[in-house]
Amino acid sequence: MPKRVLIQLDCDPQPSTFDSIVAVDAGADVLLRHGGVTPDAAVPLVHGGMFTRGGSDLASTAIFIGGSDVAAAEAVARRVAATFFGPVRLGVLVDPSGANTTAAAAVVAALRHLGGGGPPARAVVLGGTGPVGQRVGRLLARRGLEVTLGSRSLERAEATARSIAEQVPGAHLRGVASHGSLSPGAPLAAVLAAADLVVAAGAAGAVLLDAAGREAAASARVLIDLNAVPPAGITGIVASDKGRADGPQLLYGALGVGGTKMKIHRAALERIFSQSDAFLDAEELLAIGESIG
Ligand SMILES: NC(=O)c1ccc[n+]([C@@H]2O[C@H](COP(=O)([O-])OP(=O)(O)OC[C@H]3O[C@@H](n4cnc5c(N)ncnc54)[C@H](OP(=O)(O)O)[C@@H]3O)[C@@H](O)[C@H]2O)c1
Repeated sequence: MPKRVLIQLDCDPQPSTFDSIVAVDAGADVLLRHGGVTPDAAVPLVHGGMFTRGGSDLASTAIFIGGSDVAAAEAVARRVAATFFGPVRLGVLVDPSGANTTAAAAVVAALRHLGGGGPPARAVVLGGTGPVGQRVGRLLARRGLEVTLGSRSLERAEATARSIAEQVPGAHLRGVASHGSLSPGAPLAAVLAAADLVVAAGAAGAVLLDAAGREAAASARVLIDLNAVPPAGITGIVASDKGRADGPQLLYGALGVGGTKMKIHRAALERIFSQSDAFLDAEELLAIGESIG
């Protein structure tokens, strides 16, 4: 059995130690860690992985694409995908800033409680313009939920909703100003009142749904806060919540979701070392998350 080699392509100057340690814990024997990776720089690094091992041994070489700049990492991912040809491919996991694994884990938690027949569930994703929020919105829309993305800027919320709708045929997506009035009938109040699910994916330490907002969203069955830095993004949620019942509502905090995120990350690494045609983005990570529960 050849050693498992992970080629870590990170767009930040220094590759993430977090991603390296998770890879070692998931069974990588050797890490080839590259920082400051651009699409052009990625090509010879990928060729080096493609042309060294043959046959079934090729599957023991895989690629992780990360970094804090999600758009830069996605540009690298597109170039990596275009560099493969025929059967000469390496398994790839794309998870810049942990955005894909985090979004997949949040959606696994939400869908645990919102499945079943009936009319489409309605979701509000606050902080819906960020890397995590956009992916949560995209995954929920793909699963047929009606999604409203919140932003401090209505224009940004609507532009993000349009951009996701272009990627998801038939999606029901719209935007709302997340700092709007909660008076009855106001757009934000109406959206929260109709919500089955609220996900807060705002920046660390930002409060997105305070006590008044929670009152407005009293009919929501599931509330998920992805912010681990106090104060909570949704007032009343604690980071370790994992399906804690609060009256009729079920609450999830960042650590409650984080456990699933880590399981998805490890299972995804296992997958790219066993399947050289695996290219794992948010959608594939959601499927992995659902398969491990
Ligand atoms: N558990 C994990 O492993 C893990 C991994 C990744 C991320 N996370 C957490 O997931 C959350 C989302 O991550 P992200 O990288 O997508 O976040 P982000 O890009 O830092 O922020 C997301 C959105 O929050 C809004 N925002 C920024 N500052 C705000 C403020 N002061 N008040 C209200 N809204 C504000 C912005 O939207 P607008 O400007 O459009 O309003 C921004 O697009 C964060 O809390 C992060 O820590 C957890």
